[in-house]
Amino acid sequence: MRYILFVLFISATFVFCKTKAPIVEVTETPAVAAVDFTSAEKNHKNYCSGCHGEQMQAFVDRQWKHGSEASQIFASIKNGITVDGMPSYDTTFTDEEVNELVAYIQTGIANVDKYKPSGEKLAENPSPTEEYSILVEPVVTDLEVPWSIQVLKDGTMFYTERKGTLTMVKPDQTKVEIKGVPAVRNRGQGGLLEVELHPNFTSNKMLFLSYSKMKTVDGRDLSTTAVISAILQGDELTQVKEIFEALPYRPTTHHYGCKLEFDKNGYLFISVGERGFEKENPQFLDNHGGKIHRIKIDGSIPEDNPFVNAHNVVKSIYCFGNRNPQGLALNPMTGDLWENEHGPRGGDEVNLILPGKNYGWPVISYGINYNGTTITNLTELEGMEQPATYYVPSIAASGMVFVTSDKFAKWKGNLLVGSLRFNYIDRVVLNGKKVEKREIMLKNVGRLRDIHQGKDGYIYIATERPGTISRLKVNG
Ligand code: HEC
Repeated sequence: MRYILFVLFISATFVFCKTKAPIVEVTETPAVAAVDFTSAEKNHKNYCSGCHGEQMQAFVDRQWKHGSEASQIFASIKNGITVDGMPSYDTTFTDEEVNELVAYIQTGIANVDKYKPSGEKLAENPSPTEEYSILVEPVVTDLEVPWSIQVLKDGTMFYTERKGTLTMVKPDQTKVEIKGVPAVRNRGQGGLLEVELHPNFTSNKMLFLSYSKMKTVDGRDLSTTAVISAILQGDELTQVKEIFEALPYRPTTHHYGCKLEFDKNGYLFISVGERGFEKENPQFLDNHGGKIHRIKIDGSIPEDNPFVNAHNVVKSIYCFGNRNPQGLALNPMTGDLWENEHGPRGGDEVNLILPGKNYGWPVISYGINYNGTTITNLTELEGMEQPATYYVPSIAASGMVFVTSDKFAKWKGNLLVGSLRFNYIDRVVLNGKKVEKREIMLKNVGRLRDIHQGKDGYIYIATERPGTISRLKVNG
């Protein structure tokens, strides 16, 4: 062994002397230096990272579905996988440019370690923000894709994983997987999505789940966003009842929405994405896609819904013209509903949601198509709402919460918006209904999926790769 090390040392020294390469080069993969990835890197950033992540995490950790050989990656990019929402780049890039992207991705895979999230480091070292030094303390680890969190006053936690499980973590940290969860379509962006507890959960044990529900018609797999209510008895859901089903079902597996939030009257808001049918869904009121809905918890329609007296209109619609809403948060002080949604390439929005209003998708937008073509030249139009703020480039906005906790007194009334793409939290400071300023916080916290203020006053976040639920604490 010693001998081998000695030989290695000698030959390494020999190489250095011969090439006069600086020492750091030796630790790098030689292929990296050999190829010029400037334009591939730029193309990846501009065209791919919105969905696949800024730093190729998605490619690095992925279980390849369409193959990781150069020719297979080439085919995925050139032809797209449109049924899952991956656009074709046939007309965007030359074959040479596609090949450069393939090489760039394959090199990225070879450099896995560089892209590993550093969530654990954030746990050890408090992160400075404008108002506080924040500790990120992992509480549940080794998850797949945690999608939604709810925490009770005594610290009992419920969380969903997209693959289809609902888990309860008791205050003594024992984990119980809840039985009776409906079967989900775990594909693309679908699966088990939000868990929402009834405001009186502690006494009535009622909870709500949103998920992608599957149906096979003439041999074709179709799916939609659906919501059930259930009563938790021990470790089992009982009296499971479907209270909402978005129509029509679609063959795509993306843009399901689907967040749940209670208003002050005890009615439930449900967000539904346009499922990739932007021309058919969001601007037409005879279907559920690309809308936010409001229902009573038994599935019936509140009498004061905006379209309750209109004809040929889905009566649960509260607002329309939404693309893919990912965050819903009620301002507990004012009762206002806030929403965030994914724009296309550029143009993620934070909106104040008002009844009956049209949020403009796809007629107005600050984004462009993923393959670089324009969707619309319009960013404003009479009769359509402007976002309170928007993000270019897209941050892939995810969960969102209003801070009310005394534990974060200086953030009270702020909106925290998670970023799936850039792995941070955006703190949005509001002045009434206007956005006054934004602060990027906890950079590198991980691909942030959900953010929740527990009834115990702590803020919880769910991050992916590796799937972790963490608690934010003010340091000191
Ligand atoms: C609108 C979102 C979106 C954009 C933009 C996008 N992709 Fe994809 N891509 C997807 C989805 C969705 C899949 C389907 C597979 C999955 O993730 O489960 C996919 C799949 C792939 C695959 C196949 C992965 C496998 O498991 O075999 C490759 C390779 C790929 N994309 C490369 C790219 C490249 C390179 C770009 C930029 C030029 C790009 N994608 C842009 C959404 C996107």
